[in-house]
Amino acid sequence: MNKKITVLAGDGIGLEVTGITQNILEIIGERFGHSFEFSPALIGHSAIEATGEPCPQATIDACKASDAVLLGAVGMPMYDNNPNLKVRPEQGLLKIRKELGLFSNIRPIKLFDELLYTSSIKPEILQGSDIIFFRELTGGIYFGTPRERNEDGTEAIDTLRYSKMEVERIARQAFESAMTRRKKLCSVDKANVLESSRLWRETVQALSAEYPEVEVTHMFIDNAAMQLIRDPKQFDVIVTGNMFGDILTDEASQIAGSMGMLPSASVGSEIGLYEPIHGSAPDIAGKGIANPIASVLSGALLLDISFGLKDESDAIISAVDQFLKDGYRTLDIATEETPEDKRMNTEQTGKKLAELLASVT
Ligand code: NAI
Ligand code: MG
Repeated sequence: MNKKITVLAGDGIGLEVTGITQNILEIIGERFGHSFEFSPALIGHSAIEATGEPCPQATIDACKASDAVLLGAVGMPMYDNNPNLKVRPEQGLLKIRKELGLFSNIRPIKLFDELLYTSSIKPEILQGSDIIFFRELTGGIYFGTPRERNEDGTEAIDTLRYSKMEVERIARQAFESAMTRRKKLCSVDKANVLESSRLWRETVQALSAEYPEVEVTHMFIDNAAMQLIRDPKQFDVIVTGNMFGDILTDEASQIAGSMGMLPSASVGSEIGLYEPIHGSAPDIAGKGIANPIASVLSGALLLDISFGLKDESDAIISAVDQFLKDGYRTLDIATEETPEDKRMNTEQTGKKLAELLASVT
């Protein structure tokens, strides 16, 4: 198979972890006889520095001409501390998602057995958790207009808008996924307060008529945030809007042990985009200690979802599993019991995973 992958490494630890994933995908290509052609393009702060824009036209064109996109993360503290900077790295991310029509962000929350005792959640609560999130990605409050400040800067407005069509298409994906799993779908909203949530709920409920085998529940976001750590096993598939999904999946990362373990796939058109759920992590950027597994697992999702290469994708997941079974830990998932010689930085993790890929079946 010959495929073109555009690599948008971005900023901070995005730059550090994405190279590892590209290397892993190259090894997979060699081992399974595929040719993956990687081309880098700019996004985020690095794109602003070079071109003045967070997502230049050249990046959009490169992504549209490729078969899949691998993304790191964007963001720099200089923007977080200065709201007056009008051109911002996150705009690049929102733009590329919109341009590629990626309305559905799929976030599987997989707990590797080895990390059962790493999480801050009790093992008996965690064991057996297996959730997949469908987060709406191109609508809601991150995109609605008006979004602006008043003249003297003392008032601000953002707009939470959803159309029936937008809700229906993401809900349909979630229902389809539920049909291949335990046939339970929980839709999360704030329908007791928000009109857009009432539309969301009605739309999901109406669509459920087409999926009589799927048991549908509706939950308010505040309750869902609590239920997710009280009893994560009650959930199978969760569908929710853009901001609620953003927040809930960071919380859900604690089920998997760390932000550094969670991959995501953004789909909706022919070209999928794959990225870890974490950001550019300025607190650890440049130190070479970021956990690259979230990015590497995003590479596995890319192979599976965009290219239909299930065996190749599974080989990567097995290598990660073996890495953990052998006792290796990046700093975010290390515990007091992790011996010095098993503590891995980003580069060491990449090397180990590459070695393991050669041996796992
Ligand atoms: P973050 O996800 O970058 O970091 C949150 C915490 O998790 C930090 O303590 C970080 O060190 C840790 N962490 C994250 N990924 C890790 C990994 N792979 N290995 C080890 N530890 C890891 O979120 P934060 O700090 O809220 O945002 C930082 C910047 O990233 C901001 O500029 C924000 O706008 C941007 N951001 C970008 C996203 C993207 O590109 N998709 C998503 C979220 C935030
Ligand atoms: Mg987030």
